[in-house]
Amino acid sequence: MPANELNQQSHTKKDARALADLLFSAEEQRHASELTRAFVERYHGSLGERPVFPDLDRGAIRAILEEPLPEDGRPLDVLFEELETVIVPNSTHTAHPRFLPYVQPSPNGISPHAEAVAGVLNQNCNLWTLSPAANAVEQKVVHWFAELFGFGSEAGGLITSGGSMANLIGLTAARDRCLGATARREGLQGRQSPLVLYTSEETHNSIDKAATILGIGTDHLRRLPCDEAFRLRLDRLAEAVDEDRRNGRTPFCVVANAGTVTTGAIDPIAEIAAFCRAQGLWLHVDGAYGALSALSERYRPALSAIGQADSVSLDPHKFLFTCFEAGCVLVRDATDLRHAFDISSSYLAMEQDPDLIHYAHHGPQLSRGFKALKVWWSLRHFGGKAYAEVIERMADLAAHMGQIAERRPEFELLAPVVFNCVCFRLAKLDERANRAVLKTLVDSGLAFLGPASVKGHFGLRACFMNLRTSKADVELIMDEIARLGGHDTEAGRDARPLATASPAG
Ligand SMILES: Cc1ncc(COP(=O)(O)O)c(C=O)c1O
Repeated sequence: MPANELNQQSHTKKDARALADLLFSAEEQRHASELTRAFVERYHGSLGERPVFPDLDRGAIRAILEEPLPEDGRPLDVLFEELETVIVPNSTHTAHPRFLPYVQPSPNGISPHAEAVAGVLNQNCNLWTLSPAANAVEQKVVHWFAELFGFGSEAGGLITSGGSMANLIGLTAARDRCLGATARREGLQGRQSPLVLYTSEETHNSIDKAATILGIGTDHLRRLPCDEAFRLRLDRLAEAVDEDRRNGRTPFCVVANAGTVTTGAIDPIAEIAAFCRAQGLWLHVDGAYGALSALSERYRPALSAIGQADSVSLDPHKFLFTCFEAGCVLVRDATDLRHAFDISSSYLAMEQDPDLIHYAHHGPQLSRGFKALKVWWSLRHFGGKAYAEVIERMADLAAHMGQIAERRPEFELLAPVVFNCVCFRLAKLDERANRAVLKTLVDSGLAFLGPASVKGHFGLRACFMNLRTSKADVELIMDEIARLGGHDTEAGRDARPLATASPAG
């Protein structure tokens, strides 16, 4: 039925007064649930056949941008029809088997359901009185993560919107530990000696953002060189700290990586932790990408030193495969969070409880939703063993792509494959031509890879975090990239129809 007819129908079904309730009757609830259920089924069923990146309908996008605020409402059927005809065809299908550009997984089965339930319960998880059970759930998942890295009973933390917010909170605690009692009163206004933050050249730009927001300034963020394995060089760290001290500055914190954003490298965390202890510096580990791979025995030993950090960020919306958004920050000592964020106000009567926590004292937000539910359900429904298997499967797919890139002369690997991502380029093509191949690949809708800059070389990057990707997808992508670069498909393998490598859905 055309949208305008449906639109007219709405006003016969529901008068303006009923609309003003902003609530649904039982029948409308059922109808909304049915429309949602049918959408989810259709969407998952057709995922593999869709172009990963849409052929954008500019007219539809402009229509969204130009619509005036509606005075009268539209019926649900119209909204769901627009979802099918406007939103879905103009969306990037991040759960498509060949969506591999960033550290962005396809969501697991349970988390969208948890998200819907959390919306219905609408707990405010920053005041325990407004979310008692949710409060226990959040404490439990934070505790599980703290245990994974061997943090002690003093540890604390909270669920955040993602790794960037977790990094910001960790670095706020670091800054305020260094500034002591003046942190709240003076901020950085009274200081002569600037605070300095150290990290590697491979670090994610959320650390630059945090340095900016916290008033440290990127002039006081030292991005130091890495070794050949993309790991922060300790000798260069020691030199930089020493030089800053000699020049009257105040080194306060080092950010180490548990999974650098481009190549997945893990900094020498144990050595950096020992250096920080000796120098009286806070150690924050950005584990947004890689820390949760400690759920797998294969990666746990390399990550165990995270427990020596003062704070760490990790991202359930990465290796727990929850839908957006869910990050987490952990601190070795929960009092550091309270020192940074505990501001009492007379209009919030914060009754203390022996078991439950007011998370408002632990982070920057006041209202904060029940993101912990999808984290809790993901772990309780699938269990740690399933995660270990999936994480290893992702790394095996990366190894498969890396082997193809090494074996076929038209490719050149730009970095060893140490985790679940692969950086490579077409060896005989220059940067411009490699960029053009990547753009053509993405525009074609066959696959979505990202760009990578590795030691000054431009390349393509695939990051395996997609639950539907198969080895056949990997082979198809490599054949297609070779073809776009002017090479034949690999001898003995016929080109297959583009959308059939993975089972749909
Ligand atoms: C190493 C690293 N740190 C931080 C972030 C930021 O995390 P988020 O996107 O959850 O804010 C990312 C995102 O990919 C990352 O890879």
